[in-house]
Amino acid sequence: GASAGPRRPEPAAARPIMNAPSDIAGIRAAFRTDLAAAASEPDLQAVRDRYLGRKRGAVAALMRQMADAPPEARPALGKGANLLKKEIEAALAERRRTLGEARPADGVDVTLPGRAAPLGRRHPLTLIREQIEAIFEAWGFEILQGPQVEDDYHNFEALNMPPDHPARDMQDTFYLDGSMPGAGAPATLLRTHTSGMQIRYMERHPPPVRIIGPGLVYRRDTPDLTHSPMFMQVEGLLVDEGVTMADLKGTLVRFLRAFFDPGARVMFRPSFFPYTEPSAEVFISCVFCADGDGCAVCKQTGWLEILGCGMVHPAVFEAVGCDPERYTGWAFGLGIDRAALLKHRVEDIRLFYDNDLRLLEQFPH
Ligand code: DAH
Repeated sequence: GASAGPRRPEPAAARPIMNAPSDIAGIRAAFRTDLAAAASEPDLQAVRDRYLGRKRGAVAALMRQMADAPPEARPALGKGANLLKKEIEAALAERRRTLGEARPADGVDVTLPGRAAPLGRRHPLTLIREQIEAIFEAWGFEILQGPQVEDDYHNFEALNMPPDHPARDMQDTFYLDGSMPGAGAPATLLRTHTSGMQIRYMERHPPPVRIIGPGLVYRRDTPDLTHSPMFMQVEGLLVDEGVTMADLKGTLVRFLRAFFDPGARVMFRPSFFPYTEPSAEVFISCVFCADGDGCAVCKQTGWLEILGCGMVHPAVFEAVGCDPERYTGWAFGLGIDRAALLKHRVEDIRLFYDNDLRLLEQFPH
């Protein structure tokens, strides 16, 4: 007997085709609509049955109509029906393939968010350089770049280091192939300091001058905790009328406190550089043993050497055609690596050039 109760909806395949189109174009349009709505394998099966099913399929019905058609129309009708059948088969296969791709397969959950691409970051020495640049830029200094392959004149001679000066020693300087000091042709070398940028800038710009020039420099040092054959410096130069050593001291003390620590104490000690007179070495109170008690890093002195500086030597002004009677100026050179060692308490300069991600990843993006 008939059982009472809710009727189960008929599966799609069993549903009669409403107003089933009997022409090829109509069947094709209806198929496309049904195919677009199919979202699962059973849906696809139902669409297949509806159009390609042997008994109730729309294409089969089309074939049967052929029997009633006039003989001269039959070949064209048959050809059209066959093409439609192939088209439907191909479309079903293609849809089945893309459905399979979108579904989770082999335990892969395709709904999970994608993995973020690893983001690069700036090198710790670049970050330090940018911090130094930002401080001086705010004070109106221009930031320069100069060549790493330099000539003897800009690296030494114009900086008041004549040909017999000990700083030119082959022990200290990387000379480029075939260019030896005293070999006749002017020597070409990897710059041993950034000071050549002072000359290059003043050759082209009359005072007032306010520049800083950061960059890589090279020396024939054996690598150890505090030496690397390639390291980084930043050069500073200010030239104008009436510039005094008090300007130098005031600017550098302000810079060092801004960069390291507002409470840092700064000490100037007389020194010697060929391109400055007078010259000084500058120390800051040790950042490792705050009370100045002394530790291994500051060698028990409580002070750390951080830069060299002085008042520009008249011979340097003469080399660039600037009147030393009218202008005075100050200059400094600071080791960026050393500043980074102190600021980040990294104990080995070589770590900055090893490119070990375990170190590099500790710095911000
Ligand atoms: N060029 C020096 C060095 O490489 C640093 C230096 C000292 C630069 C005194 C200067 C300066 O401009 O005035 O160690």
